[in-house]
Amino acid sequence: MSTDIKFGLMLHGAGGHMNSWRHPSAPADASVNFRYFTDLAQKAETAGFDFLFVADGLHINEKSLPHFLNRFEPVALLSALASVTHQIGLAGTISTSYSDPFTVARQLATLDNISGGRAGWNVVTSPLEGSAKNFGKAHPAHSLRYEIAEEYIKVVQGLWDSWEDDAFIRDRDSGVFFDAAKLHKLNHQGKFFSVEGPLNIQRSPQGQPVIFQAGASDTGIGLAGKSADAVFTNARTLEEAKTYARKLQASVAENGRKPVAIFPGISPIVGKTPEEAEAKYQHLLSLISLDDALAYLGRFFDHHDFSQYDPNGPFPDVGELGQNTFRSTTDSIKRRAREEKLTLRQIAYETTLPRGEFFGTPQQVADALIEWVEKGGASGFIISGPVLVESLNDITRYVLPILAERGYWRPSQESTLRGRLGIPFRANRYAVQTPELADIK
Ligand SMILES: Cc1cc2nc3c(=O)[nH]c(=O)nc-3n(C[C@H](O)[C@H](O)[C@H](O)COP(=O)(O)O)c2cc1C
Repeated sequence: MSTDIKFGLMLHGAGGHMNSWRHPSAPADASVNFRYFTDLAQKAETAGFDFLFVADGLHINEKSLPHFLNRFEPVALLSALASVTHQIGLAGTISTSYSDPFTVARQLATLDNISGGRAGWNVVTSPLEGSAKNFGKAHPAHSLRYEIAEEYIKVVQGLWDSWEDDAFIRDRDSGVFFDAAKLHKLNHQGKFFSVEGPLNIQRSPQGQPVIFQAGASDTGIGLAGKSADAVFTNARTLEEAKTYARKLQASVAENGRKPVAIFPGISPIVGKTPEEAEAKYQHLLSLISLDDALAYLGRFFDHHDFSQYDPNGPFPDVGELGQNTFRSTTDSIKRRAREEKLTLRQIAYETTLPRGEFFGTPQQVADALIEWVEKGGASGFIISGPVLVESLNDITRYVLPILAERGYWRPSQESTLRGRLGIPFRANRYAVQTPELADIK
């Protein structure tokens, strides 16, 4: 891995701030506005960002965040963005609990071919129980979801190697279209899937799409250790990021693999002066009512109704709520409320709109980014908010030049996602391996 800091941009409507749609920098219908996404994607590409990421969920109700209520499906959006961009990576979420590996292998391989080797797949297992109701299934328990995911990834990656890179001869004179010796059936018979193959699409210039993973639990980290090329994490502090990174890289090493790239999702607030940063924060805060903040907090605790408590009192005892879905987040909220003696109102607002460690002048934000990388908490960052237009502009105009001057950033010239992230080409498992092509994982 190179020492250059990598950057991704998370495309979720106007941004990760719960009411980003109210911010004047983007159209109020940003989450379904393709013109807006095109503009953002092209700006990120011009600025030298390495990839775009479209998250996803499969269940909504009236309490869901506004940008979850009305959104594009990731692979369809990324395929459209592939045709208006040239180099930037295109990663999207697909759930292994509620989809079919053959279809997903096709969709991602298609995106990978359309884009010239820029596709990435964020493998999630869908924490929300409600998803099951949209698929006529029972929601698998946490550990079972990860067991399914492990076999699922193996099937998809197996299908992706159906055709060796030089399998298609397409010799018009002889009439030979392909070399049958370079076509491979998967013949997978496992605990959860039975898939014969082969896949009806070739590999791309990067071999296979990049596998991202964002599970935070020990089981999630276990899966990432086995199969992720790169991971997302939502560490709030450098200490949390370092702890996560240690666990993750240990899990990767246990599987005999080299360290993988780690991308904390961050929402920087940058002002030319500390006062300007504070004014931006106060403006963002003014877009969130106390009821909004309490409802946001409730999302992590099975939509518990926190409005029934005194907002100026301590964080209430909510027992085991949220333990099966957002355990790491709920544990951290409870710990902070207790250790820092925060009122319910304070912890609700802090959770909804954290000031975070990437707050202040461009110099302060650049220092924090460098410190996280230098101290082993991150290889790069995925900018998820608070409002994307502003964050992208501020990072591009004010922070990247500082990083470049200090030798921590330069725009990549690579045109595949693997190339941009420093992840090796994924050689076909059936091909005769030359030393430089051998999969070094
Ligand atoms: C940057 C980032 C992006 C994520 N994107 C998604 C997503 O698109 N869909 C989803 O269901 N979960 C997403 N997650 C959540 C994780 O997939 C995972 O469910 C969560 O961290 C809980 O971990 P666990 O599954 O190991 O318990 C994301 C997490 C992070 C940090």
